[in-house]
Amino acid sequence: MNQTRLLLGAIRSLGLKDASLLDIGGGIGAIHHELLNDVASEATHVDASSAYLKEARQEAARRGHSERVNFIHADFTDVASELGTADIVTLDRVVCCYPDFRRLLQAAAEHSQRALALTYPRETWYLRFALKVANFFQRLRRDPFRVFLHPIADMDALLKREGFQRVSLRRLFVWEMALYQRM
Ligand SMILES: C[S@@+](CC[C@H](N)C(=O)[O-])C[C@H]1O[C@@H](n2cnc3c(N)ncnc32)[C@H](O)[C@@H]1O
Repeated sequence: MNQTRLLLGAIRSLGLKDASLLDIGGGIGAIHHELLNDVASEATHVDASSAYLKEARQEAARRGHSERVNFIHADFTDVASELGTADIVTLDRVVCCYPDFRRLLQAAAEHSQRALALTYPRETWYLRFALKVANFFQRLRRDPFRVFLHPIADMDALLKREGFQRVSLRRLFVWEMALYQRM
């Protein structure tokens, strides 16, 4: 079981049908490829990486989903004000790639009408150490990309302030998955 499977299972447990989905930082699009089969009728995939979006587009075409997915190449926080809301918002391994989790989660929460699911690295000693090492090598390589271990309690508090309650929390060795529902 990986974190994406946990997230998909959590969303499916809500029993939604014909939902709209906003997948932020969807990468190769695993979440909408899956949820368009049973839970979602349409999806928007916003990603800062054009390489990932290209892969996601090709796979969506292979599955016959192209007409139902709106692909947007952008930093979500830059385009959020131009986008509509969705029933379900997902961020699978995305907050840990973005320095300002407050800005990202705030915009994500404002775009969710019903549910928001996210995965992020757990706050454990071994991940603190591993991420420090990873970021050290990134600096040596002069690569500006960093991985962030954001405070889970602060992310949770932000989403609660935005009117959500956490209805599911699952942990793997590295990743934690949290599902929130709008109250
Ligand atoms: C580690 S990858 C995860 C991809 C996919 N969700 C998965 O779990 O396989 C992080 C993705 O988030 C995207 N990303 C990070 N911050 C973003 C932002 N603010 N707006 C849009 N995409 C973002 C990156 O471009 C990348 O595709």
